[in-house]
Amino acid sequence: MSENRKLESNDPSRREFLKTSSVAVVGGSLLAGLAVPRSVHAAGDDLIKVGLIGCGGRGSDAVRNALKVPGAVKLTAVGDAFQYKLDASLKSLQRAFGDKIEVPAERQFVGLDAYKKVIDSGVDLVILTTPPGFRPMHFKYAVEKGKHVFMEKPVAVDGPGVRSVLETTRKAKEKNLGVGVGLQRHHHAAYIETIRRLQDGAIGHIHTARVYWNGDGVWVRGRKDAPAEVKTEMQYQVNNWYYFNWLSGDHICEQHIHNLDVINWLKKGYPIKAQGMGGREFRKGDDYGEIYDHHAVEFEYEDGSRMFSFCRHIPHCWVQVSEHVQGSKGKADISGATIAADGQDVWKFRPDRPDPYDQEHVDLFAAIRNGAPYNEGEYGAMSSMTSILGRMATYSGKVIEMKDALASPIKLGPADDGFTWQTTPPVPQVAVPGVTDPVGKRA
Ligand SMILES: NC(=O)c1ccc[n+]([C@@H]2O[C@H](COP(=O)([O-])OP(=O)(O)OC[C@H]3O[C@@H](n4cnc5c(N)ncnc54)[C@H](O)[C@@H]3O)[C@@H](O)[C@H]2O)c1
Repeated sequence: MSENRKLESNDPSRREFLKTSSVAVVGGSLLAGLAVPRSVHAAGDDLIKVGLIGCGGRGSDAVRNALKVPGAVKLTAVGDAFQYKLDASLKSLQRAFGDKIEVPAERQFVGLDAYKKVIDSGVDLVILTTPPGFRPMHFKYAVEKGKHVFMEKPVAVDGPGVRSVLETTRKAKEKNLGVGVGLQRHHHAAYIETIRRLQDGAIGHIHTARVYWNGDGVWVRGRKDAPAEVKTEMQYQVNNWYYFNWLSGDHICEQHIHNLDVINWLKKGYPIKAQGMGGREFRKGDDYGEIYDHHAVEFEYEDGSRMFSFCRHIPHCWVQVSEHVQGSKGKADISGATIAADGQDVWKFRPDRPDPYDQEHVDLFAAIRNGAPYNEGEYGAMSSMTSILGRMATYSGKVIEMKDALASPIKLGPADDGFTWQTTPPVPQVAVPGVTDPVGKRA
């Protein structure tokens, strides 16, 4: 009997859990209206078996966060596109967590279909931390199979991907599956308190926001230095994924989403349109694919308020990651948890700050154990869409409306999700404002 089957069949609370799960799944849509316990996870101290899909830096750290959650939690399966990434991650996790890592060889999966094998391996929750281009597909399969999900931002890189995530989110709610999204500022005590005060009117009507993700940029996994298992063009792009839009969505999606999301959270809504400009000054040559290295975007919300957004990946320039707002009665540095209302002292929040990366897992796991509804999919999808809207604005040089961006039929990745390492990936094309049409005809 495999380790996996042993875990499933010998544990009475697990059998009860599975029974309760299937009832919840069948009756999911009814449960909201009836006073029936919405429990997907039966007992508060049940073992939660976690599977990791995407064993890179964030995936390994997300496992660390999950394994620190009080109660019985184990990592029982891992999957990655590449063996070298899986080996490095598993080794470091085994060193740090010992018997909380229960991943024998038969639950280690490599390749583009590794995600299915992890999801089908008997886990309760999957951590989805591959490049975001794969997220809609992985999320859909996980929810189809009744798994709780923690997935990193962004959750998609194009309109079809966001629409898919919104649809899967709806299905996850029906099944009362827990869905966490790695926009960890929502679990950061200082952000929560500052946003609450601003929403309560601390600086009056908020008409302007400024947000920044300006830094040096990230790693490059060039052709010359690629490990031996990276042979085909598809393998090269997936390994060096940051620089290809179908995989990363450009850095405006990949990183700046955090700052855009904070203002969406504060405004309780999403921009209706955007215009902007950008380009690449520093990123030249094959290994830098097609993404820009700077974007500046003006977003407009329904109430006429504006968000001015700046993101840059160029070394030796001004470094800044923050969010600020201006209101009719004062101003705030949200990232600094500081509010200065006219005629009042500056308010500054200095709490004991639990690490928001830990806290987002504590909150998700508590909901799963209590059977409480927990789903961050919608704002995860719409903040991803906000960053995609910004990219469409800078790539086109035109005013783009959110409704057109969201309805866009352009899928950046291969048309067929069943692609293999032999499939030819999209040919990189650097967008030219005034020429490029990143939206396409409405779906
Ligand atoms: N919330 C945060 O603060 C935060 C911080 C860092 C990264 N992230 C997010 O986490 C995600 C991963 O980023 P990272 O820094 O860990 O990148 P990474 O390159 O270190 O890790 C990604 C891993 O996914 C693997 N992979 C690629 N395609 C795959 C596939 N189809 N199936 C299985 N595995 C696949 C890669 O081989 C790699 O090991 C990104 O979406 C990123 O934005 C979030």
